[in-house]
Amino acid sequence: MTAAATDAPRRLTVVLGITGGIAAYKAVGVARAFVVAGHDVHIVATEGALRFVGRPTLEAISRNPVHTDLYEGVAEVRHVALGQRADLIVIAPATAHTIASLAAGLAGDLLGTTVLASAAPLVIAPAMHTEMWEHPATVANIATLRARGVTIVGPDSGRLTGTDVGPGRMSEPEAIAAAALAVVGPHDLVGRRILISAGGTREPLDPVRYLGNRSSGRQGVALAEAALARGATVTLVAAHLEVPAPAGAEVVEVGTAAELDAAMRAASVEADTIIMAAAVADFRPVVIAEGKIKKDAVGESLELRLERTPDVLAGLAAARRPGQRIVGFAAETEADDERRRQIGAEKARRKGVDLLVVNPVGWSEGFGSTTNSVMILDGAGSVVARAEGDKASVAHRILDLLV
Ligand code: CTP
Repeated sequence: MTAAATDAPRRLTVVLGITGGIAAYKAVGVARAFVVAGHDVHIVATEGALRFVGRPTLEAISRNPVHTDLYEGVAEVRHVALGQRADLIVIAPATAHTIASLAAGLAGDLLGTTVLASAAPLVIAPAMHTEMWEHPATVANIATLRARGVTIVGPDSGRLTGTDVGPGRMSEPEAIAAAALAVVGPHDLVGRRILISAGGTREPLDPVRYLGNRSSGRQGVALAEAALARGATVTLVAAHLEVPAPAGAEVVEVGTAAELDAAMRAASVEADTIIMAAAVADFRPVVIAEGKIKKDAVGESLELRLERTPDVLAGLAAARRPGQRIVGFAAETEADDERRRQIGAEKARRKGVDLLVVNPVGWSEGFGSTTNSVMILDGAGSVVARAEGDKASVAHRILDLLV
């Protein structure tokens, strides 16, 4: 890839506004996501927010004092100082009341003055009941904020307080942090075409059963989100994702290893970079039963004959165009770090990749988790980087190496 080189990720001053809704407890996760990604987080919480989540929790997670009162620290002109220092302001959750105040430009509390005193990008994650979200007043306020360049993340649809279900649920903390960082992030992949596989393939045994694996697709989706945020054009070949594919990616849904192989080959023609994050079945049943396999017809034990599936990654690497970059993944249950490196090094050479991302997996580790811990090997098997944290920051680290 020949995109412009980037410096090490910049440490941002992030002001996190937390307002008084039940989703305030999830703001702890938002603060944590920014801290894990290496940023300096300053929380401005309204009095209402502190009824839902305790100041000590917020201070422990953000590692900074929590600010609430407009009349505290007057000598240091805190009501404008925070806003002036901020590289990014994120308000999560943003209640209907906060959204109305922001739209009107009110400066009645510390959060209002901070926002007005700042030239930093503003990102808000609304959270409220569906009726409030759909009320014409809120709809108009959101339109005003959007027109002013504010980034709105969510809300998602789902379970709200009590038994209500509908749009209004605050987006997940990692998604909020990733979307916010994308607003200020480097746009170093503009013009690049990245093809990513994600999820886990399923090989049918009969019309109702399959052989599958526990991949949720989270790491592949995080890579797609990160690449999109950095300006790339992304094709996502998606096998049974447990998380939504990012808006903005061209998504090709596949089921089996053979379908994934065909989709990847077709899309690889246009790609500058190919990332194989999907967990692909290595074996599939030789025969797929036409109808449901009945236990009475089979007896006490059932033997399955399996055959190898194509090695998609090795095929893509063998057919690569000059300049095309190929990244593989290796999920290994080997607990010893050095043994894992050796297995990874052998795999990197065998598959002919430029980078191999090796991560430990186990009964309770790796698959389905929102975090990851990886070592990244080059094609010769040397460790070029390690990354640990939420899957979004691991994704950015992988993209940094490609850039
Ligand atoms: N992979 C692939 N096609 C397969 C199996 C794996 O493209 N049929 C890709 C995966 O997407 C991953 C990499 O190869 O990027 C490594 O997958 P892994 O299962 O760890 O490697 P295998 O070669 O299957 O080795 P083993 O399972 O024996 O460890």
